[in-house]
Amino acid sequence: MKTANFTPREIVSELDKYIIGQKDAKRAVAIALRNRWRRQNVPEELRDEIAPKNILMIGPTGVGKTEIARRLAKLSGAPFIKVEATKFTEVGYVGKDVESMVRELTETAINMVKEEEKLKVQSKAEELAEERLLDLLLPPKESPKETGLSPNQEVLEGMILAEEGISEQEAPDNLKEEPISQPKARSEAEEKTREKLREMLHQGKLKDRLVEFRPKPQTMMPMVEVVSAPSLEEVSSNIRDMFSGLFSQSSKRRKLKVPDALNLLIQEEASKLVDNENVHQTAIDLVEQSGIIFLDEIDKIAGKQGGSSNPDVSREGVQRDILPIVEGSNVHTKYGMVKTDHVLFIAAGAFHVSKPSDLIPELQGRFPIRVELSSLTEEDFLKILQEPANSLTKQYHALLKTEKVELDFAEDGLKEIAHFAAEVNSKTENIGARRLHTIMENVLDEISFEAPDKSGSSLKINAQYVRDKLSDVVKDEDLSRYIL
Ligand SMILES: Nc1ncnc2c1ncn2[C@@H]1O[C@H](COP(=O)(O)OP(=O)(O)OP(=O)(O)O)[C@@H](O)[C@H]1O
Ligand SMILES: [Mg+2]
Repeated sequence: MKTANFTPREIVSELDKYIIGQKDAKRAVAIALRNRWRRQNVPEELRDEIAPKNILMIGPTGVGKTEIARRLAKLSGAPFIKVEATKFTEVGYVGKDVESMVRELTETAINMVKEEEKLKVQSKAEELAEERLLDLLLPPKESPKETGLSPNQEVLEGMILAEEGISEQEAPDNLKEEPISQPKARSEAEEKTREKLREMLHQGKLKDRLVEFRPKPQTMMPMVEVVSAPSLEEVSSNIRDMFSGLFSQSSKRRKLKVPDALNLLIQEEASKLVDNENVHQTAIDLVEQSGIIFLDEIDKIAGKQGGSSNPDVSREGVQRDILPIVEGSNVHTKYGMVKTDHVLFIAAGAFHVSKPSDLIPELQGRFPIRVELSSLTEEDFLKILQEPANSLTKQYHALLKTEKVELDFAEDGLKEIAHFAAEVNSKTENIGARRLHTIMENVLDEISFEAPDKSGSSLKINAQYVRDKLSDVVKDEDLSRYIL
């Protein structure tokens, strides 16, 4: 299975579309990502020796750490998850244990591989599903209890004779059980009817018709699995799976429109065609060879050693628990053992209060690549407003367009917003690009409220407008602490 093989330059330019500045961080993650690919092309003997160089991203709040991770996830084509270090508790305490991140990553990989495998069998599944749908619409005549035509068949055959689409009034529903084994020999006449029906299906003439059937329950978790589950969390999720399998999906009949039924049948057939054993093995390989875990907010578990209050003890415990996973260990998942030796870890944190050196030394050593993200300047803010494909200005423009209000940002207006953002950041707390969100909300407050009454109009946000809205608030430091 492939991982996307972008060159570092391509990765950086892809990240550039969404994140302004932060060159070093972009370079570091791009190299790390490329190294995964390089390693896979290295001769086997050496491959196992090459450990990933984990990255620690350090930078103030709101400058793009999480954003880089999020974009990277889309690019990597590898199993990728982002977890918050603060979510975990030390082993032995109630809460999420750190190994769950590996299980989560495996789950992601399973889904990826399954989707991929399903695509491969898609056309076969479509064929099979169509046959099943035709069986549902027109059950074979010699099914045990039946004599003659069912009302449903009569209607359909009448339709076919009349050669016309379905009228709007409700068509009688199919109440037949799905035949268990379909390939009974069909008579020539039946075959002909069936082909006619197939044609109507293809032409979309049956799209308003309802069929009723019983979707197959998902494959049930075997009992033993519960016993071997590694953690309480897993056990309860297994039990939940089991019960949902037992009660909700198994025996409910559902009435669906033909296109929806067809989709469901395709899903079912595709699942049947996919070899689960194979999926599990492929997914585990994928995790072991190219999985990436982004550990966000790592600074929050770097407790100061000095004050020996309780929370610190448990934070340090979490760090100690994380250690073997980063180092490389076996984690038990419900799909089998997963080795974490070659999983890449990218950790990020603001390190406002704590320093990287407050992490336990062993853990510091596991993150050899340090990149610092810089605080954002007024010029950066302007670019952030203008350039990214998902910029705030584009978002607000699109939002107000739904009210038929044409919102336009003049360049001097944006400059003014960037200026205010930088000023407030320097006077109060520096919250990075998040400041743009609060400022923008304030500038557009009135418009957002009144937009429905102004349908059809267009509005230009220029420097004067921004100043009118903000200058009072910004001047008063206390006020801006609350509002912006
Ligand atoms: N350099 C940047 N370019 C474009 N947008 C940015 C940049 N930095 C931050 N943003 C925007 O600001 C918001 C917050 O950024 P992000 O979530 O990445 O912060 P962070 O660095 O993870 O902060 P924290 O340490 O608080 O978690 C996001 O909406 C993001 O799009
Ligand atoms: Mg973040």
